[in-house]
Amino acid sequence: MTDAPHIPVMLNEVLAALQPTANEVYVDGTLGAGGYTRGILNADKNCKVIGIDRDQTAHDLASQWGADYAGRLTLVKNSFGNLEEALSEIGVESVDGLVLDLGVSSMQFDEADRGFSFRFDAPLDMRMDRNTGETAADIVNGMAEEELANLIYLYGEERKSRHVASAIIKARAVSKITTTKQLADIIRSVIHVSPRDKIDPSTRTFQALRIAVNDELGELESVLSAAERVLKVGGRLVVVTFHSLEDRIVKNFLNEKARPAPSPSRHLPMALDAPLNRLSFSLITKKPVLPTESEMKINPRARSAKLRSAIKLGDS
Ligand SMILES: C[S@@+](CC[C@H](N)C(=O)[O-])C[C@H]1O[C@@H](n2cnc3c(N)ncnc32)[C@H](O)[C@@H]1O
Repeated sequence: MTDAPHIPVMLNEVLAALQPTANEVYVDGTLGAGGYTRGILNADKNCKVIGIDRDQTAHDLASQWGADYAGRLTLVKNSFGNLEEALSEIGVESVDGLVLDLGVSSMQFDEADRGFSFRFDAPLDMRMDRNTGETAADIVNGMAEEELANLIYLYGEERKSRHVASAIIKARAVSKITTTKQLADIIRSVIHVSPRDKIDPSTRTFQALRIAVNDELGELESVLSAAERVLKVGGRLVVVTFHSLEDRIVKNFLNEKARPAPSPSRHLPMALDAPLNRLSFSLITKKPVLPTESEMKINPRARSAKLRSAIKLGDS
């Protein structure tokens, strides 16, 4: 592991939305380097946090700082997509808040042998939980061309996805693609860098593979649906996203769950027995909260962040 620190993104805004309060219990579904967890535990000396991460590295790191919060911090190694199961294993049914800071941490990105970054030559892995599931190498060596092109297009928003997929298929027919460098070279052979390009041509394909390997969008859908059941009335949901695919899922979820039920139109009167759109959340801010200019200057990772938050409503 390198020493590059992970600077928590929009921590002040997260705390403002979550409002840590004495005797309340919060879930940090993306423990990482513990930036949010520590922020919450420091904001109120009598609240508790359940820190979840599926990456053992986050837990190893927490063993260095967790003792400062003895009795107030519970660590769980699991995926946040299994939120209810993970909580029931520690005897918890409901909580007062859930915060998520999606994606990979700077630590994971900077750990060369994880294979998340084309900056290092490493095995093409990209699993957050290194004990389970397919690696990025399994996908690039095993997936059919069309499926691979669609994956790179959808998750990487790469317009040249078909060229990339075709180059991968040709290269793997010669020899198995096992390293980040091999893959980055294949991508660069079909997407030429122009001086105007701000990002490396591999960025989008690497993002697509990372999302697929870790089922990042499926995990997000599962945790949002679980939040509806696990949050107490008045509990707060705070989600920080880093790209449009994630943000769209959170936005659509909250649009559906927090939008007022449409009033019956006089041209199309609602049948008396039509089911009402049951609302389960009320938005804390109507628009997403964005990082300040000064935060973006200090922490480039914050540039694409968007924070959305909502309060769980009771049955009405
Ligand atoms: C951006 S980092 C979080 C950083 C943290 N907020 C901090 O300030 O230190 C995201 C973390 O969430 C973890 N993670 C991502 N998706 C996950 C999932 N579905 N289940 C559990 N952990 C996940 C990653 O392993 C990573 O450690």
